[in-house]
Amino acid sequence: MEDTLYEQVGGLAFFEQLVDGFYDVVATDELLRPMYPEDLTESRRHLVLFLCQYWGGPTTYMDERGHPRLRMRHAPFRITKKARDGWIHAMTCALDGVRDQLNDEQYEEMMAYFTMAANQMRNV
Ligand code: HEM
Repeated sequence: MEDTLYEQVGGLAFFEQLVDGFYDVVATDELLRPMYPEDLTESRRHLVLFLCQYWGGPTTYMDERGHPRLRMRHAPFRITKKARDGWIHAMTCALDGVRDQLNDEQYEEMMAYFTMAANQMRNV
């Protein structure tokens, strides 16, 4: 059986680094920052665990938070086209920060998923 993408990229440590980079940008984004809690510790943790699970790693996210149901969890937030663009921008910066740890195929797979998922989260 082929390794999961989670294993290929180095597991938890990779996703922690990616998500750190993501929230570093969110922290400076005037539109996105107010949507998140003041303390980003739990937000970071949830996104790390979700991504680990999504890419074939441990299912800790599900064990702790239940079924992701991401659209429903995002319903309380006004996710406009601009918010979506900001989110994709933050994630693109984060991916650029770990670009040297990914081959082209892995990079493109992640980029494609994030773009698709961010489009699905738009609710305004
Ligand atoms: C499109 C723009 C998006 C915006 C503005 C947005 C915003 C937010 C906000 C404000 C939270 C709450 C944070 C908290 O309570 O700590 C959140 C949670 C979360 N978001 Fe997003 N999000 C977006 C897209 C995405 C996408 C594309 C994904 C997945 C690829 C994602 C995954 C998550 C996860 C896993 C959580 C934690 C859910 C939980 O267990 O409570 N988000 N998001």
